[in-house]
Amino acid sequence: MRKYRLTKHFYLALMILLAAAAMVAAPGGAQDVQAAQGKLYLVGLGVGDLDNMTIRAHRVLTQADIIFGMKHDFKQYAELFKGKELHEAGHLLFMEKSLQKRGRDKMPPKRMPPDKHQAMQEETRRIIREAVAAGKTVAVVSGGDPMLYGPHTGYLQEFADLKPEVVPGLSCFNAANAALQRGPNKGFVSHSVILTAAMTTSKGYKGKDTLAKLGETQSTMVFFTMRMNLPEVVAQLKESYPGDTPIAIVSYAGYQDREKVLVASLDTILEKTKGEKLPFEHLIYVGDFLK
Ligand SMILES: C[S@@+](CC[C@H](N)C(=O)[O-])C[C@H]1O[C@@H](n2cnc3c(N)ncnc32)[C@H](O)[C@@H]1O
Repeated sequence: MRKYRLTKHFYLALMILLAAAAMVAAPGGAQDVQAAQGKLYLVGLGVGDLDNMTIRAHRVLTQADIIFGMKHDFKQYAELFKGKELHEAGHLLFMEKSLQKRGRDKMPPKRMPPDKHQAMQEETRRIIREAVAAGKTVAVVSGGDPMLYGPHTGYLQEFADLKPEVVPGLSCFNAANAALQRGPNKGFVSHSVILTAAMTTSKGYKGKDTLAKLGETQSTMVFFTMRMNLPEVVAQLKESYPGDTPIAIVSYAGYQDREKVLVASLDTILEKTKGEKLPFEHLIYVGDFLK
């Protein structure tokens, strides 16, 4: 009788162990266990209309207790973020080592005094570390894909010990490719695409990627347009590309109702955009793939 009881208990314990192992091995099981320990995510919201968000991003954001983002993100995703604790993520609040090396970390983000910048960093560290330690899910959200010119990638280095996870998003680059209906890698003289930012043309820029250098292969060039000086960019491009090379401006990529494509050539673009105020949300493509 005693032997029978022992065997019964042994099998019961074995079944519980097997069930726990199956939960961890099941799809999503490991993530659920991790969520119970608290987790930090950097989540790409996608660009444009709300249905450009991935299912994975939606699932993580639905589970999240605390969201760090920009005011406009909170407005656009108000329904999804309802009832969650919201905090401003700050533009370049934490900087990657490459920017720190160039001394950018000594310069607080625009319009923020140094003491406010430092106080915000400290408060953000406190909130995130306490929340993760308490088993909460924290999501830092970023427009488009977080890793493409995203302002919050510095969080990944700052909180590397928490093993943050990145949830990719649909970039404006993907949405603009769709709007153009041409493969940017399918040029006549080149099969490559260079993603860059207009900052490479500004005075005092110390990188090696000048437009003259980048333009040597006449590859397709795509500009993320923060602080863009279009006349300066066009003048520099014309040193490498023929004047009849097509140039396209894609505004509001990913917004079905607002998306707009303007195509011209390097010779005509300034005339065609004269007097027009381009929105913050525009990408510029240059290359003969548009011919
Ligand atoms: C800081 S970057 C962020 C890019 C973002 N991480 C992404 O993957 O889409 C901001 C720049 O992306 C471009 N951009 C953002 N949204 C856009 C949109 N809907 N359509 C076209 N360009 C957009 C603009 O050039 C803008 O200056």
